[in-house]
Amino acid sequence: MINPEADRVLITGAAGAIGTALRVGLRSHWRHLRLTDVRPLQDLAGNEEMVVADIADRAAVEGMMRDVRAVVHLAGVVGTYTLEDLFRVNARGLFDVLEAARLAAVERIVFASSNHAFGCYPITEKVSPDLPPRPDSLYGVFKAWGETMLRHYYDRYAIRSVSLRIGTFRPQPIDQRSLATWISPADIAHLVDVSLRHPDPGCLVVNGYSRNTRLKTIDPNWSTLGYRPNDDAEDFRDMLRAKGIDVDAPDRDEWEWPEHGGAFPRTPERPVR
Ligand SMILES: NC(=O)c1ccc[n+]([C@@H]2O[C@H](COP(=O)([O-])OP(=O)(O)OC[C@H]3O[C@@H](n4cnc5c(N)ncnc54)[C@H](O)[C@@H]3O)[C@@H](O)[C@H]2O)c1
Repeated sequence: MINPEADRVLITGAAGAIGTALRVGLRSHWRHLRLTDVRPLQDLAGNEEMVVADIADRAAVEGMMRDVRAVVHLAGVVGTYTLEDLFRVNARGLFDVLEAARLAAVERIVFASSNHAFGCYPITEKVSPDLPPRPDSLYGVFKAWGETMLRHYYDRYAIRSVSLRIGTFRPQPIDQRSLATWISPADIAHLVDVSLRHPDPGCLVVNGYSRNTRLKTIDPNWSTLGYRPNDDAEDFRDMLRAKGIDVDAPDRDEWEWPEHGGAFPRTPERPVR
C-alpha cells in the first residue's frame, strides 16, 4: 500500500502533457513528489522536487530512485521520433527504470502504456485488456513489451504494477475517433491516483479512457481498481460539429479509422541513421 502522506512518488516525463495534468491532480494529496524530465520545470510546488536528467542515463536514474516507494513512468518519445530514440528512450529507458526501481526496492510502478498496444483490433470489436495485444506500430510493440516486462518484474520480484493503455489524452476531444478514445486531465489523474493507492493490484493492465458514451472497449479492471471516470467526450459533440467534424458518422457505423489505433500507425517510423 502506497501512502500519499508518507511515501515518495517519482514521476518520469513530468514536464510533458500528462505529467503536467498529474502534477495538477496529485500534488494536493501526494505529499512527496519527485519529478524528472530531460526538460527543466520552473514552477515547482512546495512538495515537488525536480531532477533534470535523460532517462537513458542509468547512473542518474539510480540516483533519483533513492527513497522512492512508487514510480509513475511516463517518459518516452511520442508522435514524431526516430527509431534510434524509440530504442534508446522507450526500450532501454524503460529497462533502466525497472532495474533501478528493483535495486531501490520500489513497490509500485504505474506505466504509461497505450491503446496502440491493441491498435490492430477492428473498431467494431469490444476489446478488453484480457485479449492478447495486437500492436499497430513499433511504438505499440514497445508498449506491449513494457507490459510484459512488468509481468516479469511482478512474477520474479513481486513489484506490483498497473499499465495504463491510455487513449487520446487532451484537454478536449479533437476528432471523431477521440469521441471514443478520449481521456481527460482530471480522469487520468484519478486513474493514476487509484493505481497508486490500490492495496494490491498484482500486475494489472487497464484501459485509460474517460467514461465516453462511445467507448469501444470493455474493462472489468476499472472496478477492480476503483476507477470511476467523470468526463464524457460526448459533451464536446457540438463543439466538434461546429468545427466541421462529422460526429454523427459513427452512429451510422462509419468510422474515420477502422481500427482502434486510428491514423497513428499509418505514420511510418523513420530509419535508424
Ligand atoms: N498523450 C497521449 O494521448 C498518450 C496516449 C497513450 C500513451 N501515452 C504515453 O504517455 C506518456 C506521456 O505522454 P505525453 O502525452 O505526456 O507526452 P509528452 O511528449 O508531452 O511527454 C513526454 C515527456 O517525456 C520526456 N522525455 C522524452 N525523452 C526523454 C528522455 N530521453 N529522458 C527524459 N525525459 C524524456 C519529454 O521531455 C516529455 O516531457 C508517454 O510514454 C506516451 O507514450 C500518451
